[in-house]
Amino acid sequence: MINRDGYTISLWQQHISAFPLSSKHEDKTYDVIIVGGGITGVTTAFLLQEAGFKCLLLEAANLGFGTTGGTTAHLNTLLDVSYETIEKNFGLQASRAIAKASANAIRFIEKMTQEYKIDCGFQTADAYQYAQNEEQDKALVREATAATNAGLDVSRVATLPLPIACSSAIQVKGQAKFSPLPYLYELAKEFENLGGVILENTRVTDIAHNETVDVTAGEHTFSGRKLILATHIPPGINLLHLRCVPYRSYAVAARLSQNDYPQDLYYDMEEPFHYIRSQEVDGQQYLIVGGEDHKTGHHENTNLCFRQLEAWVRKHFPVAEITQRWSSQFYEPVDGLPYIGQLPGEEEDIYVATGFSGNGMIYGTVAALLLRDMLLGVQHELEKILDPNRLKPIAGFSNFISHNADVAKQFVGKLIPAASLPQLADLAPGEGKVITYESEKMAIYKDEAGELHTVSPVCTHMKCDVSWNSGERSWDCPCHGARYNTDGQVLNCPSTMALHALHVAATVK
Ligand code: FES
Repeated sequence: MINRDGYTISLWQQHISAFPLSSKHEDKTYDVIIVGGGITGVTTAFLLQEAGFKCLLLEAANLGFGTTGGTTAHLNTLLDVSYETIEKNFGLQASRAIAKASANAIRFIEKMTQEYKIDCGFQTADAYQYAQNEEQDKALVREATAATNAGLDVSRVATLPLPIACSSAIQVKGQAKFSPLPYLYELAKEFENLGGVILENTRVTDIAHNETVDVTAGEHTFSGRKLILATHIPPGINLLHLRCVPYRSYAVAARLSQNDYPQDLYYDMEEPFHYIRSQEVDGQQYLIVGGEDHKTGHHENTNLCFRQLEAWVRKHFPVAEITQRWSSQFYEPVDGLPYIGQLPGEEEDIYVATGFSGNGMIYGTVAALLLRDMLLGVQHELEKILDPNRLKPIAGFSNFISHNADVAKQFVGKLIPAASLPQLADLAPGEGKVITYESEKMAIYKDEAGELHTVSPVCTHMKCDVSWNSGERSWDCPCHGARYNTDGQVLNCPSTMALHALHVAATVK
């Protein structure tokens, strides 16, 4: 099993071991440095190395630690953001280009699985979107029209091959599914075989643009002609943090009492919607259902989200056993499409890919193909459409990798007696909460042994207060989605600095 950015364990994470790194890394200078070991970073690194660039891939934890290890891995052209919205915001040409690029991404993944004989359970499938009331019927008609206009092969169907009633439904061909981590690992292996270098457990803490882009990671400094931030959301402070809204999504994997697993991809039209598929992993079929999405840091009792999702699954399927429950993060772009290209407010040599909504496997692959073409100087029809600079820069938003968190300074380095914190009395083992002590806030987690882990709740990114996430046992920032473990260490960008440690004197049982 590998580590992931939370307490829960995903189906994929449970069924894979640490990536067997074979990189040799004596060099300090590269053509391209890629930061982030998820599908975007690894695919981009592979494509660029294959194209003749000398590449270095830096990952803060381990490959698949972030959302690639927690996705439900739908490979769909029927995207989370409706084609109706894409056409309205960007025009018909753009919605056609997005549909085409999404289909190309699926074909690219299929080609890679065939060429490298990747044992990742890749399988083509159809997608079904279904309505369950009159209002949803109307929205589905509009979406079917917009998706058809975009070039998708859409047909109306009367019923679903699912034990769920619907009032209307559409079927879209040409979709697929797979296990994301075996695919990621094979691309990483091929990247290394081509001479690429991967460093895990190497968190980037500073980026300086001189004649080259100089990246500091721990005691190392590496230089690149180009830098690609494939960190889900860029680190530091950037205009894009105001244009991407962080969300959590929940997933369960289940074994069914009858061997009748839905083989296609299904989406209802609830708010938030449910997404359904199955996957064979190590010879066992699993039903995988996702949903219960909410803004990061806006829902403290996230265990309730798991319970609600599980109840929904049990209502519709003959569940023998829920085998895994996990949650994951995604970023919703304000205008509906990802931001892929040059990082706003920075020199030309720094690139970013973010705002993938719930379509990370597709847009991560789209981003890799687009960034490869951009660095090769090949024109790509999405370059302008997805340009992060399509948004007007705001003055003062070029303060990259700048931190100035204002912590409760009078508590740093001091021991606070637990007896002076009566709020701890009702804190159960495994729980956390933000309390106020002498007008200052403290974020406190009590572990299973009763030990207190106390940090400042002030996010080191831009000073918002973090919230407790009971399901993942993490401190989540509602502003731009930074997440920290119970000791305040960074789990997710955009922050690159830990929460400040505070000290409470005594163990509280
Ligand atoms: Fe920006 Fe916390 S993530 S303030």
